[in-house]
Amino acid sequence: MSTAVPPPVADDIDVATLLDDPYATYARLHELGPVAWVPVLNRYLVTGFDACRAVEADEATFSADVRGGSATMARALGGRPMLRKDGAAHAEERTPINTPLRPKAIRATWLARFERNARTYLETLRARGPDDADLNRDFAGPLAAQNLVDMLGLPDATAEELARWSLAFIAGIGNLQDDPGIWARSDAAQQEVDAHLDALLPVLRRRPDASVTSALLHAGLDEATVRTNVKLTISGGMNEPQHTITAIVWALTDHPEQRERVLSDPSWWPRVVDETIRWQAPIGMYPRRTTRDCVLAGIALPAEASLGVVVGAANRDPAVFDRPDEFDIARTKRAHLGFGSGVHVCAGHWAARIAIGEVALPMLYDALPGLRTDPRRETTWFGWVFRGMTALPVTWGG
Ligand code: HEM
Repeated sequence: MSTAVPPPVADDIDVATLLDDPYATYARLHELGPVAWVPVLNRYLVTGFDACRAVEADEATFSADVRGGSATMARALGGRPMLRKDGAAHAEERTPINTPLRPKAIRATWLARFERNARTYLETLRARGPDDADLNRDFAGPLAAQNLVDMLGLPDATAEELARWSLAFIAGIGNLQDDPGIWARSDAAQQEVDAHLDALLPVLRRRPDASVTSALLHAGLDEATVRTNVKLTISGGMNEPQHTITAIVWALTDHPEQRERVLSDPSWWPRVVDETIRWQAPIGMYPRRTTRDCVLAGIALPAEASLGVVVGAANRDPAVFDRPDEFDIARTKRAHLGFGSGVHVCAGHWAARIAIGEVALPMLYDALPGLRTDPRRETTWFGWVFRGMTALPVTWGG
């Protein structure tokens, strides 16, 4: 006999507040329990750490092929990518890209590129000078874009193009309201990416390389599937590293004793990266759909329910993390959910950790002693589904 109870209802959630800063809302949701029905979002929000993990451990019950969201993603990316597939259909597309994105492959192939790219944008930042530089605009954004151009092996694409495509695809994926202007931009981005792939794929067929695109192409997938997953990676692999880089410099500015610790002992960098992603998750929420009536963390859910897996909240679950709202690189080591979990766990998590923690941040602090948020200019954040800094003015020196 099931002891499942109906979900608590969170009927006072304000979307504008969530977009501005979701963490007070997450704290309230934690008080209600691990799962709540949120009428204004027309979905159940899963905020408990264990409940989020339980969702990812059972893809037969909690499908990534979500209603509405799969359709907009397919429209934006020219097909349904691995992120919206389950089981064998997902594995067929995911498994090939694991190989080029393993730590050993990344260090062998991409580390030198990551270093070269970081040096390039360090000079852009330095040229702006300590009264005008914006870490988001001048360094984090273009660096994340160029690293992705390289990992995808798009020889003729620029960081500016990739950044524009990424934003157009993300807007299209979220275009549930069917805004024609948003579709026009994501269609244009699709055509531009396809033009690059028209030139690249025949070359890669003859001469495979170490790129993500080559791995997809030589896995026996049809060409349309390869193209869709390249576009998925463009949409999903830029903003998050960008937002992690800025959040780290912002966090270390406000926690000078932790900044001193990592600057005097670089072996702390991996902890800095993961604690920042726990504390300020760049992806706050992603969707799932129930395939049948089920029970999650003691809460009864109907079939065909829309769920939001709120990893941004799970990463601050007080049942799992002591002082969850504090940034503390020395906290007891525990896995966080900022990269997701289960079969869809982020494919690029090693690439991100290495590009940020081994290359970009050590290089920045080494080249620009005293690097910190510039208090004379305004710092801005935005979002909850995707969350990050939209401006991080920085200064350095005395
Ligand atoms: C700090 C940086 C990053 C964060 C926080 C992050 C976060 C995530 C999360 C939470 C998911 C799961 C989403 C879901 O299940 O709906 C995901 C999936 C994914 N990420 Fe990342 N990501 C980052 C960087 C990257 C990079 C650099 C790449 C590309 C090289 C990448 C490629 C992907 C892909 C392809 C998937 C889909 C995996 C699948 O469906 O099996 N990510 N990421």
